[in-house]
Amino acid sequence: MFIGIDSSTTATKALLMSTDSQVIGVASSSYDYETPHPLWSEQSPELWWLATAESIRNLLQQTGVNPAEIKGVGLTGQMHGLVLLDKNGKVLRPSILWNDQRTGAECDEIRQIVGKSQLIDITGNDALTGFTASKIMWVKNNEPEIYAQIDKILLPKDYVRFKMTGEYAMDKAGGAGTQLFDIRNRSWSSGLLEQLGIDQNWLPETFEGTEQTGGVNQAASIVTGLPISTPVYAGAGDQAASAVGTGAINEGVVSLSLGTSGVVFASTSQPLIEPEGKLHAFCHAIPNKWHLMGVMLSAAGSMRWHHDTHAELLDYDTFTRPADLVPAGSDGLIFLPYLTGERTPHPDPLARGAFVGLTVRHTQAHMTRAVMEGVAFGFRDMFELMQGIGISDIQQVRVSGGGSKSQLWKQILADVLNAEMVTINTAEGAAYGAALLAAIGHGQFNSPADAIDQSIKITSTTEPGKDRDRYNDYYPVYRDLYPQLQASFTRLSQLESK
Ligand code: XUL
Repeated sequence: MFIGIDSSTTATKALLMSTDSQVIGVASSSYDYETPHPLWSEQSPELWWLATAESIRNLLQQTGVNPAEIKGVGLTGQMHGLVLLDKNGKVLRPSILWNDQRTGAECDEIRQIVGKSQLIDITGNDALTGFTASKIMWVKNNEPEIYAQIDKILLPKDYVRFKMTGEYAMDKAGGAGTQLFDIRNRSWSSGLLEQLGIDQNWLPETFEGTEQTGGVNQAASIVTGLPISTPVYAGAGDQAASAVGTGAINEGVVSLSLGTSGVVFASTSQPLIEPEGKLHAFCHAIPNKWHLMGVMLSAAGSMRWHHDTHAELLDYDTFTRPADLVPAGSDGLIFLPYLTGERTPHPDPLARGAFVGLTVRHTQAHMTRAVMEGVAFGFRDMFELMQGIGISDIQQVRVSGGGSKSQLWKQILADVLNAEMVTINTAEGAAYGAALLAAIGHGQFNSPADAIDQSIKITSTTEPGKDRDRYNDYYPVYRDLYPQLQASFTRLSQLESK
């Protein structure tokens, strides 16, 4: 048996997987994050460890498994969060999380010191408030007394690892997400660290997701109930671990998550980089694989807004059903899904949502369909960026998240993206992926591909249909709208903040 632990922004989940990759049980323990100032987002690392210990104890109790049968633990969790420790391993300040937006000035500083194209060339990414590097620079600029005491820098999942094993270690996918990694060489970039004045001794050794990083120590054994020396594997940041958990490890298979935000994740066998940094490029959880990723901030979140604003009391099925009868293209109505700004392909916090093309003929059902289509067009923007740098053959998209329950939305996605949409047998995402990484590391499978083949089964398939050509006509209209409206979005934000 194997355990996967996912320390997310809102809860830590422990999942028990059998040696034939069935999910036996799941236990989770929730917590909150703090926003002490506008744009800030912080969490105490101690919360992750308490929640990890509690969820493992509950998992062992509720499944009745003999702890001696646990052959390995795989770790995953929210990416990019900055955890600072002093020389005694004590936490120096609350973790600054992935969704914290305070570091705009530090992103400019990094671009200025390193040069934007050089930065993208080394790390695969443009400077982003979400990533760890700008958070370290913020502490340097704003909390010099804390900065002076730094002895180790970890990510959330790796703080859990430190408490569990006493080891300082990080996975390569997480390392890439710090923006201090040379993603081609899958190791810290000494040149970049020197330019930014960050001491390389602060950073832990990095490991492939299937490599072992120590074992459960005595203190952790007491609070979790796991035997001393139970092997702990590197695992991966939540996006890469989820991709393992949905089987997206080969070129041609893309995973698309249709949750509040939307993520498109494509595996690559070489480190492909979008030259403007419009897509994220990180190391994948398994050796010799990388991945590209696009993030849409309001995907199913757009539908939730539309539903809650216009018919809060109706259930989703009843609310969305009339959109089935609206023709593809919503009779010329287009929705832009930038309700909370955007990340990919327009890194613009001031971008706004819009319905464009309204006439008296349009009904609420048209708006519902236009929301689904607008989100699908946003995903097509990401596909086009990926295709532009060599991901030529996307045959299958593994779709997950709340929005994937809608057959109409899956059909629209298949038509707009011109690819087969499939759903799979497990919905446990990152925690399941982390358990699989531990199982692969233990030698339960011959290879990562073998693990995926044996564990992940397709449960439904939606093929592109008759509306494909019609969407090919509408997509360029969608694509042209953001550049035309961008200045107006900025002016509206300026007026609003007056
Ligand atoms: C990935 C990202 C998020 C966090 C959330 O780049 O910012 O997926 O990892 O958990």
